[in-house]
Amino acid sequence: MNLTTPINCQVKGTVQCPGDKSISQRVLMIGAFMNQDMKVDGFLHGEDPISTMNALNQIGAAITVNDNGSVQIPKRDFIFCNCDEPLDLGNSGTGLRLMLGFTSGLGLNLSFCGDESLSSRPMDRVLNPLTEMGADINSSNGKLPIKISSSKLTKKYSYELPVASAQVKSSILLAGLASGSVVEIIEPVQTRDHTERMLKNFGANIEIAKKDGKNIIRLGSSNHLSAKNYTVVGDISSAAFLIVAALISNSPGLEITNVGMNPSRTGVLRALEKMGANIEIKNQRLESGEPCADLEVKQSRLKGVELSGEIIPNIIDEIPIISIAAAFADGKTIICDASELRVKESDRLKAVSDGFETLGVKHQNFEDGMTIMGNPHTLQPEEPIFIESHGDHRIAMSFLIAGLRCSQSITVKDCKNIFTSFPNFIELISSIGYKLEK
Ligand code: S3P
Repeated sequence: MNLTTPINCQVKGTVQCPGDKSISQRVLMIGAFMNQDMKVDGFLHGEDPISTMNALNQIGAAITVNDNGSVQIPKRDFIFCNCDEPLDLGNSGTGLRLMLGFTSGLGLNLSFCGDESLSSRPMDRVLNPLTEMGADINSSNGKLPIKISSSKLTKKYSYELPVASAQVKSSILLAGLASGSVVEIIEPVQTRDHTERMLKNFGANIEIAKKDGKNIIRLGSSNHLSAKNYTVVGDISSAAFLIVAALISNSPGLEITNVGMNPSRTGVLRALEKMGANIEIKNQRLESGEPCADLEVKQSRLKGVELSGEIIPNIIDEIPIISIAAAFADGKTIICDASELRVKESDRLKAVSDGFETLGVKHQNFEDGMTIMGNPHTLQPEEPIFIESHGDHRIAMSFLIAGLRCSQSITVKDCKNIFTSFPNFIELISSIGYKLEK
């Protein structure tokens, strides 16, 4: 599916932010382990959470979707079962890495597969600690296809994260939860803490302390989780596309409601505010243990910034769309310490650079980042533009938003992966005045 941008548009109005992908995946696994029926509202019906739901149902979870879109997770009065068919996690790194931990902890015999992108991504970052915990795992050089064989995990495990990854942290926590092991994770750089918050919200025996600037996360062995309801807040990573759309188009104002404001995810707001963005945060509240708010965004004159160090894990999914904002800012933006972008759904540094090359945005690449020479003027190419998405949802949406500042249409090729994280993207941005053509 290719998508083509209209020209001369501005976005305005009010939209509701779609549910958070990270939280939707976690609530399925943790909810399936809970000894109580639970109803989940605000769930993201994107392809990634759905592939996690299907995988859980293959091992007996019996999760269903109600007519109004809420998700029903039944009480765990059954024993999770092995399955001959591989669990297919599609495009989802979070789904696969978290399920590897969860099912190793359950002591199941399973095999896992995924699409071409997921099959090329490194899984050794979770396979190594899980193997140290006692899991019996076979992979193809640290990649899919992966097989796990029933094994008992060690009673106590401590691990210092060598990469700043919430997926690795969560995979170990879920392995500990499912096996009843005590786990301690030492996290040198803060990453998204949805798993910790959710476990705490459901009554788990989890403590987080600070030592020498590092987070020490301890999950105890006996966890009795309970909650009848859970509400998933909106995904700030999806909101980021709408925010930048309002900032770079001639927008009189765009309101985005129900945006998740977990401090381990709001780096994108800090980065954009540093660039001069006019974003008002309203109605701050707490929903199922996660902060959320409504945002009012107005067109802003942006300037270049430097983004490096500790903020990078916090904005890792938003760097492609921040790069689009930087392309239309005054002056230079420097992004470094971001080599993790090379192992996302695509090599995102290369994908952004390829798109910039086609659009004529001046930039320089390096191994762990890039410099973007911003130019606040609308791009004036001589002909319509065609850009490769590299099969990556965030690259596709980023370059579609860039079309708001281009005098010719931009066609982004192979956009079907937008449905992994933002299933109503096309309808939603059409409702605020930006109608993409299929
Ligand atoms: C995620 C963590 C991040 C992020 C991904 C979702 C999660 O990945 O990029 O989109 O839900 O835990 P890493 O853990 O690889 O940094």
